[in-house]
Parts: sequence; structure tokens; C-alpha cells
Amino acid sequence: MNIKIIDIPKIERPEGNIGVVQKEVIPFDIKRVYYLFDVPSSAKRGGHAHKSLSQVLIALSGSFDVVLKDGNSTQTITLNKPDKGLLIDSTIWRELENFSSGAVCLVLASAIYNENDYIRDFDEFIQYLNNL
Ligand code: TYD
Repeated sequence: MNIKIIDIPKIERPEGNIGVVQKEVIPFDIKRVYYLFDVPSSAKRGGHAHKSLSQVLIALSGSFDVVLKDGNSTQTITLNKPDKGLLIDSTIWRELENFSSGAVCLVLASAIYNENDYIRDFDEFIQYLNNL
């Protein structure tokens, strides 16, 4: 599956750490940054794939699970470290769930928001893959 964990360089000091995201650690030009916060623990986010968007997800605070499907296999990744980024390439179905209290999910994206890039129906997603 076209996903990867990226190590976010950090500066560690007794008085606190700094995570630094510079362009060389992200395999695309960042065009948009957004974040999920105040997510109820029962909420399921995502539930879609993107035709061409690539994203990196970082659990800035707390934890949550990312369920990934590429049409052949399913993988669940728990994000709970602010110095780990999950690269999700295009055409991967993702669901985000089990948000801990206070969890914040930072998303770095390769393009500005475009609803036409979304596939929000799983059967449509499988059909899209079959037509690639
Ligand atoms: P969506 O991407 O479906 O959220 P999630 O995957 O986190 O569950 O977006 C939810 C709504 O917010 C949808 O109506 C589109 C809107 N939205 C924007 O307008 N701009 C954005 O950058 C994002 C990420 C979402």
C-alpha cells in the first residue's frame, strides 16, 4: 500500500521539544494545512479517497486510528506521536476513528480544497481503481 511513516525531525530539550516540518521531509509541495480538533471519541472521520491529493497526517496531540484500504488490503495505523507523519498517497480509502480526548490531527496537503477530487462512496472507489 502506498503509505509511509515519515520521521519529523525534532529538537529535544529538557524545557520542551520542537518538531520541525521543512519542505525536504514532505514529498510534495504543501499547498494547504488544516487540522481536526474537538473530535468526539465516537466520531468517524474520513470515509473517502482522493483521486490525486497526497496528504501527511500528524497527531500533534493525543491519538487516533487511521484505517486504510487500497482495494486489496486493509491496514490500521495508530498515530500518537507528534514526531511521526503518515503519508497517504492518492487513491487510498481512509477512515479516522478512536480519537482520544484532546486529539489534534494536523494535515499537510498537496493541493487546495477541491470537492471534485473526493470519492466518497466505497463502491465508486473500487470502480475507480478498476478503471485506472
Ligand atoms: P472532509 O474532508 O469530508 O472531512 P473528514 O475527512 O475530516 O471527515 O470535510 C468535511 C467538510 O469540510 C466538507 O463539507 C468539506 C469541508 N472542507 C473544506 O471546505 N475545506 C477543507 O480544506 C476541508 C478539509 C474540508
